Amino acid sequence: MPNIQTKKLDYKVFPLSQDGYTFHYIADSKKINEKLIYTTFEDKSFFLKIIERENDYLIKYDKLTRVSPIKIIKDALKAFQTLHNLELTFSNIESKKETQHLEKSDAYLKKISYFAHDFHTDKEIWVEVGFGSGRHLLHQALANPDIQFIGLEIHGPSIEQVIKQCKIQNINNLLLAAFDARIFLEFLSSNSVGKLFVHFPVPWDKKPHRRVISPAFIDESTRVLKQDGTLELRTDSENYYAYSYETFMSLTQCDLQIRKNQEIVISSKYEDRWKRQEKNIYDITLTNQEISQEKEKITKLTFSQQPSFKEVKAKFTPHVFKGDDYFVHFERLYEIDENSGIIKLSFGAFEKCEHKYLIFNDNKIQYFPYEALPIKQNLKSHKKIEEFLYA
Ligand SMILES: C[S@@+](CC[C@H](N)C(=O)[O-])C[C@H]1O[C@@H](n2cnc3c(N)ncnc32)[C@H](O)[C@@H]1O
Repeated sequence: MPNIQTKKLDYKVFPLSQDGYTFHYIADSKKINEKLIYTTFEDKSFFLKIIERENDYLIKYDKLTRVSPIKIIKDALKAFQTLHNLELTFSNIESKKETQHLEKSDAYLKKISYFAHDFHTDKEIWVEVGFGSGRHLLHQALANPDIQFIGLEIHGPSIEQVIKQCKIQNINNLLLAAFDARIFLEFLSSNSVGKLFVHFPVPWDKKPHRRVISPAFIDESTRVLKQDGTLELRTDSENYYAYSYETFMSLTQCDLQIRKNQEIVISSKYEDRWKRQEKNIYDITLTNQEISQEKEKITKLTFSQQPSFKEVKAKFTPHVFKGDDYFVHFERLYEIDENSGIIKLSFGAFEKCEHKYLIFNDNKIQYFPYEALPIKQNLKSHKKIEEFLYA
């Protein structure tokens, strides 16, 4: 990742601009010899990070706020070098051929904030969790043009492969999210989904808490499913089947259908492999019987009052707060000046937490690089953060 190193660095007084980049301020975490430089270029904003080591300075990109393409960060480092007249002892910022990152604003692959705030459809929705090679998802999307499909997957190469296929086959009723399915359903309206497919989920025999199927997932599934909508679990793992059966059975009321070695419309890569090995395949289909209440939308997680940074600084120590299904880790504090600064923190659901900076500046306090997602564990964390700030 882009970085430069130098033996000598005399900081200029910011704000300063060079080659289209503006360096606004330096925030200093005195305890660990680390500084953040708030940098903007066109409509992008991010931090450069300076680590003051025993014999030299390492100046590099900041993982939490990194922007793409990476060339923007390399050129920011170059502009910083020019401004400070740095003699470098190491540099890897000379651009060779730039590789482009998966562009998250792709017509098929939507940012998670799109699903959290802007997604709307009048069509019935069908969702596939962990679509892998996408054989089943693509087949269903082509066969059901009146349905809006959403595919969820956390494996980048599988997502790229399916985007390619969507383009080749000109599919226009499918959106993808590179996001953990255990949280995603929170963004969907109640009674909007006709079918939820969970085909051959990772069994996680040694870490069952990472399984997609859980009481919380089933709760959210029954909320988003229409009346008579179905959740279809298909697995070759006897363990996963037994665990899921038990989890479904713990519901006070449910309509389950169990089948063994049933053919379905299309066989996935995994399924072909298991069939060749003559393994049994189990289906559990849950049919939702209820009409659920509309979910209260969590509004944006913003701060109503501006606490004094001086007071926050006086009481700040790194610490962790653990709630029932959420946590807040106050990690580090940086000072910009007496009245402004930054707190680095992580918070939210244990299985999908947020890493953010909280910037206190210009009489405002806000999450950076962007707001936390409006899900219930984040809301609980946000309240805890406010409690700490305003206490
Ligand atoms: C065993 S593969 C099955 C793929 C496909 N459904 C099939 O039948 O061929 C499981 C897939 O689920 C994805 N996955 C695992 N956990 C996930 C999660 N929490 N959210 C979304 N996808 C997940 C994995 O990346 C993997 O591609």
